[in-house]
Amino acid sequence: MVGARRGLSLSQLGLIENAAVLCLGGKIVAVGKTKDAFRDPWLKKNRKKVVEIDCRGRVVLPGFVDSHTHPVFTNPRLIDFEKRIAGASYEEIAEAGGGIRSSINGVRRASRAALTEKLLTAFRDMANHGTTTVEAKSGYGLDFASELKSLEAIRAAARRWPGTVVPTFLGAHTVPPEYRGRSQAYVDFVCSEMMPAVAKRKLARFSDVFCEHGAFSAHETEQVFRAAQQNELAMRAHVGQFAETRLEPLLRFNPASLDHMDYVNESDLPALAASGTVATLVPGANYFLGLSHYPNARQFIAAGVAIALATDYNPGSSPTLNMPMAMSLACTHMKMSPAEVIAAATINGAWALRIADQKGSIEPGKDADLAVFDVKDYREIPYWFGVNHCQLKILNGIADKPA
Ligand code: NIG
Ligand code: FE
Repeated sequence: MVGARRGLSLSQLGLIENAAVLCLGGKIVAVGKTKDAFRDPWLKKNRKKVVEIDCRGRVVLPGFVDSHTHPVFTNPRLIDFEKRIAGASYEEIAEAGGGIRSSINGVRRASRAALTEKLLTAFRDMANHGTTTVEAKSGYGLDFASELKSLEAIRAAARRWPGTVVPTFLGAHTVPPEYRGRSQAYVDFVCSEMMPAVAKRKLARFSDVFCEHGAFSAHETEQVFRAAQQNELAMRAHVGQFAETRLEPLLRFNPASLDHMDYVNESDLPALAASGTVATLVPGANYFLGLSHYPNARQFIAAGVAIALATDYNPGSSPTLNMPMAMSLACTHMKMSPAEVIAAATINGAWALRIADQKGSIEPGKDADLAVFDVKDYREIPYWFGVNHCQLKILNGIADKPA
């Protein structure tokens, strides 16, 4: 493993035509030309025992790694949607009591079982679009019981889904109404009460925080990072969605990923490029909020920053779980090439979750996560925007046709 894809290597897919993949016990054991596979002595002997899936004329990719989603919510936010169409901004809606806060009541009232069912529906729908690994954040409960309930629902749904789920604790998503005007007290509560309980129950692998005006300051973000370190949770953060935050103080904590990154100070790019931190870009949010400004992917790539692409699936800013749609937006609005978006949606997503040893590419030893597309050329995947061409997916070795 050489590290996340940067610069030119982001567009080197290592395509093999007329290829075959041999999987056993949920793992990839070999990949290469089909004619070579048939010469393999083991396969010759065991051919009858192997289930063959004919993918002739199709494209087989590593399953997508959607490394940024907020799937634990109950209702769409249709009022916010209409208000924004009428001209209000995301921040104005949030200040008026809409936004993240308007998703809180639904989650607080919902049973764990009801949240689990919602999650399972979302995970299945993601898989139908080619996603085999998903990062799933809490963050709409924002009190002790509801954050734990959200993470327990993620765990329960993950056990019933053959794909892979990486859970993230996002207690610091916004200041809940009962702490209005007392954001420091809420951060203290997140760090000293909620996070240790989450860590003790092993309910999350990552801790996340929304660093933004109207959410949490850079100083508060560092406090959340310090607590994550103490609780042995890896770190990620929402940074620079609407306003710039300096990255160097955050990079000292070695976060796995900094996400959104619409507004970044150019002078921070060398430090970001030299770090092991991935910049996860989520153009679905820019599209849905009707913004004309998108993250400057070309500048990141030129500077050697490792970038990943994710859906940011959530009810407020990006109600899509369709990775090919996010990839299409990255091509048309961020000028990434079709090859670059595929690497960013697979192997670099895996790096953003620190699971690139198991996920994100078709290599012997990795988990058997594959997505088969009914297209002749990989470039058609972002080209046919909004259309789902995923025909079959293999999740940890389990084959599944879209419902
Ligand atoms: O990534 N920015 C913070 N979180 C989400 C939005 C959440 C919401 O509006 O419900 C995001 O865009
Ligand atoms: Fe987000």
